[in-house]
Amino acid sequence: MNFTRASRLLRQKSTSSYRVLSYSVARNFAAAASRADVPRPLLYKRTKSQVPARRELCTSDGVFIEPTENKENVWLGSGELYLLDNKKPIKLPLAYLRDACLCPLCKDPHSKQRTFRTGDIPQNIRPRWIKWDGKELSIKWANDIPGYSTDHTSVWTGDYLKRPIFNTHERAHSPDDGPLLWGQSRMNRLQHWVSFEDYVNDDHAFTVAMKNLKRMGLIFVKDIPESREMVEKIATRMGPLRNTFYGSTFDVRTVPQAKNVAYTNQFLGFHMDLMYMNEPPGYQLLHCLENSCSGGESLFGDSFSAAHAMKMEAPQMYQLLSEHCLGYEYNHESHVYYNKRPIFELDPVTKELLHVNYSPPFQSSIPSPDGRDHDVRFVSKLVHAIKTFTTKIDSTSATFELKLAPGTCVIFDNRRIVHARRQFNASKGSRWLAGAYVDTDALLSRFAVCKRQHPEAWRWNEATS
Ligand code: OGA
Ligand code: ZN
Ligand code: ZN
Repeated sequence: MNFTRASRLLRQKSTSSYRVLSYSVARNFAAAASRADVPRPLLYKRTKSQVPARRELCTSDGVFIEPTENKENVWLGSGELYLLDNKKPIKLPLAYLRDACLCPLCKDPHSKQRTFRTGDIPQNIRPRWIKWDGKELSIKWANDIPGYSTDHTSVWTGDYLKRPIFNTHERAHSPDDGPLLWGQSRMNRLQHWVSFEDYVNDDHAFTVAMKNLKRMGLIFVKDIPESREMVEKIATRMGPLRNTFYGSTFDVRTVPQAKNVAYTNQFLGFHMDLMYMNEPPGYQLLHCLENSCSGGESLFGDSFSAAHAMKMEAPQMYQLLSEHCLGYEYNHESHVYYNKRPIFELDPVTKELLHVNYSPPFQSSIPSPDGRDHDVRFVSKLVHAIKTFTTKIDSTSATFELKLAPGTCVIFDNRRIVHARRQFNASKGSRWLAGAYVDTDALLSRFAVCKRQHPEAWRWNEATS
């Protein structure tokens, strides 16, 4: 936009009023605005006798603000732009705007990757032309990143500017997809089973299963062909296998002198897997191939439900368990792992519960909060809080129990659902589960794709699920 075109535009719009800001006035205004905290536009009221000269279309810096039907709704401050959206001002730093350009020159339409670097944005980036019609903001730049032509126009919708979605997986963006807390009776009612055939071949059924997995943290696949390969097939429908030192898939069977209590016939209390790893696997699969021994039932519980109850009934204990870390270790000849994490892992900003970390068999001694000697009262408070949580986890009314039949596979959220197994009699019959893990990242992506491609199946209704 040059001055000639600007004046032509002005003539075309001669019936509408418009506003021109001088840069210094805008700066004063911005200072005043920041004092008052709610900036207001500076108005240039046009009357018939006051036809502004061409130069008045521009700030002293040469910025032309395109007149639109929505009058006086955009103005400049010092290094920032103000938009009026439904009478509410939105403040946008100019460097932020330049960085957020979504145009095909800045964001490759095929790769969706950026073609410029934030560090290449000139220090005092300024617009030379601005248009805001209440729905869309367009800017041409006076001093763009080197290499950009003068035609380069940045365009954003008002909705994008108001609510840029940085992370589609954030719970705030889809509150209906959040965890649905459950105890025994709710899980008895809502347990979701999908046939292997549907899970593999029917996108609608698969999406419903994924939605249930997201909401309840636990689903079952049935009628699985009798093959050790199937756990991989079920897992990779969701995402790539997570490899660990147990293998990309693993067998849960009794072995002599087992290095993991899971590989014995003993009772295995409620726990989550691989808490000693830097990134514990997000989802776990256990495909039952054989289960003819007496005993060996599987137990599941919703740790988020127990955490919620603690937050309500004993907020100080909840806080203690969210602030103080426990240690988790795996220390054998060939593998040495250690990590510290609190039982309740909260989002540092929103304080929402992100993960529960709970695996008594793999706990190390209690790490001291500040590296010094343990305080007797502190340890006893901690033990008491852990006991309170454990009691909730172990409660029968919170536990969903079943004996996995050969040909069924359980899939569960390992950062939320605790699992356990009853002791079994290994002298008669056989018990064999094939296990696999898939990372949280992969499932978040799968959930988002399912939701986008099959919104009708994703809509979840507690009564009909
Ligand atoms: C495990 C485990 C459960 C079972 O291997 O981590 O929890 O039913 N196994 O054997
Ligand atoms: Zn651009
Ligand atoms: Zn386990």
